[in-house]
Amino acid sequence: MSRKIYVFDTTLRDGEQVPGAKLNLEEKLDIAVQIAKCKVDMMEVGFPSSSQGDFEAVKAISKKIGQDICIAALGRAVESDIDSIYQSIRDAQNPLIHIVLGSSEVHVAKKFRKTPEQVIEMGAAAVKYAKKYLPQVQYSLEDASRSDFEYMWKTIEAVVKAGATIINIPDTVGFAVPEQFGQLIYRMNDRLKNLDPKVLLSVHCHNDTGLATANTLAAVRNGADKVECTINGIGERAGNTSLEEVVMGIKLHEDYYGGHTTIETRKIYETSRMVSATMGLDVQVNKAITGENAFAHSSGIHQDGLLKSKDVYEIMDPQTVGAPPMEIVLTARSGRHAFLHVINRLGFEIQEEHVPEIFQKFLSMADQKKEIYDNDILDLFENCTNVKSISCKELWKLEEYQIMATGTLPTATVKLVKGKKEVVTSNTGSGVIDALYSSIIDAVQYSIELIDYRIHNLGRGKGSLGKVTTQIRYQDKMYYGKAIEQDVMKASALAFINAVNKIILEEE
Ligand code: KIV
Ligand code: ZN
Repeated sequence: MSRKIYVFDTTLRDGEQVPGAKLNLEEKLDIAVQIAKCKVDMMEVGFPSSSQGDFEAVKAISKKIGQDICIAALGRAVESDIDSIYQSIRDAQNPLIHIVLGSSEVHVAKKFRKTPEQVIEMGAAAVKYAKKYLPQVQYSLEDASRSDFEYMWKTIEAVVKAGATIINIPDTVGFAVPEQFGQLIYRMNDRLKNLDPKVLLSVHCHNDTGLATANTLAAVRNGADKVECTINGIGERAGNTSLEEVVMGIKLHEDYYGGHTTIETRKIYETSRMVSATMGLDVQVNKAITGENAFAHSSGIHQDGLLKSKDVYEIMDPQTVGAPPMEIVLTARSGRHAFLHVINRLGFEIQEEHVPEIFQKFLSMADQKKEIYDNDILDLFENCTNVKSISCKELWKLEEYQIMATGTLPTATVKLVKGKKEVVTSNTGSGVIDALYSSIIDAVQYSIELIDYRIHNLGRGKGSLGKVTTQIRYQDKMYYGKAIEQDVMKASALAFINAVNKIILEEE
């Protein structure tokens, strides 16, 4: 069995430092509960001496989830910060005091204006003070990647002697490069394990040059016992190491890294969406593991290969991270193989001799709309006598919709059809999308939860197209629905209906 790599999530501390991402108490609790579902080993949930609000939040989280998970909070190497940390995390079963103090020359000389020896004394005294409260104390050498190695080692000897149980090596300013950072961790780990094999070596990397994940993985390869990271890689400036990337990197290459994590990877995707929506921070579409396009394939060559065998272009099953299944996105670059696959999935068949003509129609539609979704295919086949339905499953279509956004009662009415069935429903809501989606849910009569809703404009100016992406949860599974229209309300309705139709297509 390979060694265990501990995962320390700092979404609610470093992640919450992102401008505009400030959370209230309820939101922090919700996020903490969600992240706990990923079974992280430790969770850093705030900087209690920074404000009364942060103190209360750390205390509330410690009470709520502190029985199941190690709760950490951060402070400077001063007694008043350590007092606040202890008071805020003491209700947790397994609390951890995290102390940070700079170790680079710029920090020592310019920030603290102290001698290197004075800073070491300050760090060791802080650890000693913290140990009066709790057995577990983590010491971070801020700006470690720009610090002198022998000076860091002197600091580590002093703080381990004072009782530190975890030594954290941060690349605070995202300056490190993987090979050098890996070597640094190798040397550090070698000495640390000789000094005291029970002390864990941890890393905390920032993403200023896009290398946070690479640096963290290099550290794991070179002996780091613990990784600090955040959901979606959020954090100060360009962010932190993203939890999902490091965890999946280790999982895919367990032999290479000689380690494994015990993260519940199937919870990653919903946690990513939840954190993104609560903090109002979009996940970039091409973000590794959790981006909207992470499992979407649009090139004709790739689509053809995938349809022959998934492993041609898929290195992990999207379900491993709880993401919706692999998606074939139809565009003007898609070939016939992908087109015929999608229409078969929707329950249609085209006679061989009519394929070229219908494929041409599809291509001209794709040139106009950029991406073609299920509702577009249903429209394309409307009144088309050369297309045969081969499925007993009928799909929902949007026949009409009306939205009233005036006054205090936003209202939506939809008329949906499914085969011969026709349903008209109306609802008010807290906003037009709420009203619209409530009406669709009433019409289709599925117990659906909306997980995510996003609008993007494609193109520029007033005439640009609106692309809507929705994600819904039905019986613990995620479904994507997307649509592109000039009218974003119509696109919103169609995207939702496309997701509902995916449920129907998947049902036995
Ligand atoms: O980036 C950093 O150095 C930190 C420390 C508190 C670990 O966030
Ligand atoms: Zn940081």
